[in-house]
Amino acid sequence: MGCGRIAPLHLKAIARSPEHARLVAVVDPDPARAAEFAGEYGAEHACTSLDQALALDAVEAVVLCTPNALHADQVDQVLRAGRNVLVEKPFSETVADAERIATRAEETGLVLAAGHTFRHVEAVRTLQDRRAEFGRLRAVSISMCVFWDGPQAPWWATRTREEGLVLTLFAPHAIDFLQLVVGEIDPLRIHVEAARFQPDWVAEDEAMILLRYPDDVLASIHVSYNQKRTMNRKIAHFENATVRVENGDELWIDDEPVVMPDRAPVEDDALFNDGITHYFATQIREFALAVRGLPNRSVLHPSALRQTRLNRAIVAAARHDG
Ligand SMILES: NC(=O)c1ccc[n+]([C@@H]2O[C@H](COP(=O)([O-])OP(=O)(O)OC[C@H]3O[C@@H](n4cnc5c(N)ncnc54)[C@H](O)[C@@H]3O)[C@@H](O)[C@H]2O)c1
Repeated sequence: MGCGRIAPLHLKAIARSPEHARLVAVVDPDPARAAEFAGEYGAEHACTSLDQALALDAVEAVVLCTPNALHADQVDQVLRAGRNVLVEKPFSETVADAERIATRAEETGLVLAAGHTFRHVEAVRTLQDRRAEFGRLRAVSISMCVFWDGPQAPWWATRTREEGLVLTLFAPHAIDFLQLVVGEIDPLRIHVEAARFQPDWVAEDEAMILLRYPDDVLASIHVSYNQKRTMNRKIAHFENATVRVENGDELWIDDEPVVMPDRAPVEDDALFNDGITHYFATQIREFALAVRGLPNRSVLHPSALRQTRLNRAIVAAARHDG
């Protein structure tokens, strides 16, 4: 649902995963867009409302790829209709909404998962699997910097500082990695400095986040929409090893390449392109496993709720005052 920028990657991922998922319908309020996507990706139905799609018996789950402000109410609608849902990040825009949909998931017993695509790669899975050998964690340092020349969707332009721009559209990827490495615990302190360099939106496009966790674990996150040379670097400093995830899908342990995907070199603007369809394919497989009640690595609602609390605390802590 939501035939915009990110939807094609989900649709290609579904097409690649016939043993886990089958596309029944696409939904977009713009009928031409819904029809175009249905034709291109082979959906039986092109719907213009969620209600239409939820009336179809064959629909067992919905992938929500709509603007952030719509997520919570649409998740709620899907769960109330008795279907499972994978919602794009951010899980929701407010803690109250996140709690509301998490409660709905509990009540219904359905799967509510968040789309944290960047963890669904072999590099991150290997880090998780080998975590015990790395020993005590001391620090995490994340830099995710890309260049977007103004709003990539119309709604980006009007997002307020309170809603957040780079802190709510991009930082969730970093927060997800941080939580995956640190564990399901909350930070003790948060400091955030934010700035805006581009004139075509009103909220922040550059930010630095500093966090302190229990047991003296420290973390920093730098997110930017201004850096022409893409940087996607996540470093976890453990007692026994320095573990880096570079360019989304490479794993380096103490400067030794451990997972090196067989792909073309990363281009400057290569953050969202067909080269990352496999991230989405793994994500849809994990979601399907969750729906089937099997072991899986989806980011399920308890974890997504914690991330929303952290993300909102970060936005609230942001200082813009030079
Ligand atoms: N996982 C990732 O790496 C990643 C990357 C980009 C975007 N996203 C997330 O995906 C979501 C969509 O982002 P996008 O960049 O594709 O946005 P977009 O604006 O390009 O697409 C949104 C689509 O939703 C449709 N839409 C609007 N209102 C709707 C409604 N009421 N019901 C159904 N559809 C409606 C629009 O017509 C549009 O086609 C956002 O939440 C964003 O944060 C995730």
